[in-house]
Amino acid sequence: MSSAVVPQPAVSRANGPLRGRVRVPGDKSISHRSLLLGLLAVGETRIEGLLEGDDVLATGRACAALGATVERLGEGRWSVRGVGVGGLKSPDAPLDFGNAGTGSRLMMGVVGGHPIQATFDGDASLRLRPMRRILDPLALMGATVVSAAEGGRLPLTLKGPETALPLTYETPVPSAQVKSAVLLAGLNAPGETVVIEREATRDHTERMLKAFGAEVTVEPHGEHGRLVRLVGQPELTPAHVVVPADPSSAAFPLVAALIAPGSHVTLEGVMTNPLRTGLIATLIEMGADIELTNLRDEGGEEVADLVVRASALKGVDVPAARAPTMIDEYPVLAAAAAFAQGETRMRGLHELTVKESDRLAAVHAGLVACGVEARIEGEDLIVVGRGRAPGGGEAVKTHLDHRIAMSFLVLGLAADAPVAIDDAAMIATSFPAFVDLMRGLGADISLEAGA
Ligand code: S3P
Repeated sequence: MSSAVVPQPAVSRANGPLRGRVRVPGDKSISHRSLLLGLLAVGETRIEGLLEGDDVLATGRACAALGATVERLGEGRWSVRGVGVGGLKSPDAPLDFGNAGTGSRLMMGVVGGHPIQATFDGDASLRLRPMRRILDPLALMGATVVSAAEGGRLPLTLKGPETALPLTYETPVPSAQVKSAVLLAGLNAPGETVVIEREATRDHTERMLKAFGAEVTVEPHGEHGRLVRLVGQPELTPAHVVVPADPSSAAFPLVAALIAPGSHVTLEGVMTNPLRTGLIATLIEMGADIELTNLRDEGGEEVADLVVRASALKGVDVPAARAPTMIDEYPVLAAAAAFAQGETRMRGLHELTVKESDRLAAVHAGLVACGVEARIEGEDLIVVGRGRAPGGGEAVKTHLDHRIAMSFLVLGLAADAPVAIDDAAMIATSFPAFVDLMRGLGADISLEAGA
């Protein structure tokens, strides 16, 4: 049943400065969670600003298959009538998550805590991604893997226990998806489920669980970590979710504006949750002119308008400890580093190898294809910028990875020669309006006849 999309080659080229004021779509992490918590609440959850990308829509269909009534009321406006913790049914057919790691893994947590059974599948990229990191803690809570592809990968069938066991679990990798899967399973366990993370990762699940009425406490743990406690079997009450603009999507026009000479762009209402702003901190260290204006609270998250002006960047050393706050932004940071003066070293990128593609390898290969000096040393990526535009490239391979596709299209907007990528189709998973939004700022991106 693995979903396949026809490849869509695309080319970007320099076309003068980028100018304008735009709002990127809703945050992907919060969008997935708003649907899932809507399913687990009793009554109607209203969502505004939902990201209507393929990944999130797959989660919406999966929530409907488990018993929710999910309706689109207008652009970004959705209603989810949930059945409540403990009220889910087994889906009649396999759940196809397409390219969506977050949707599939969080839903495994939901299924793994309930006495139901579901089959999970996805595209060629999702079928390659490790799932043991989710299945291992769920097994400790009583779930069983009925069948799985080699290495515990998709397609897999998961069966939850009659009564889930509460768990105290220290995550072996810094992953908000692992933390969230355990907490979502813990919702249907009697007693307290505790997740300990040595390095704090995005905390949207914790924040949103509280907003839906669960008893959750968060305390610091060690130097960079956190300990999260959840009291199981709450009756979740529906919430009104306002989804802020996704900083991981804002990263693309942000970097494009920094590298295209003369640019001046404002990005409205971007979420500035401190566990998501590592890219902004790094770019400012590199000399980027980014002003955070109009700081405010929207739907329980801090947001700001980012005013970005083209800047001369310099290479920096990005510490490994910052990785969880910018894990999805390394590909586009690498594009920025290609324009900087000097070496940028991004440390501790092991988790990048298990994203929608092996992003460490894909970014390195793409940079080399664009005439940029780059190397991998252990878990570090080093990009050597010359303080000027790199050459451009003919054949960047994107490996079914939306962020590789957008990063190299951004690089092409200020490179000496155009940049061609093999496939822009996956951009629809997280940022369906990317090409139109960038064109609205003045970018030259063309979609070529399909292969
Ligand atoms: C996400 C967590 C991150 C991130 C992904 C979204 C989330 O993955 O890369 O795009 O919404 O929880 P990991 O938890 O695997 O680091």
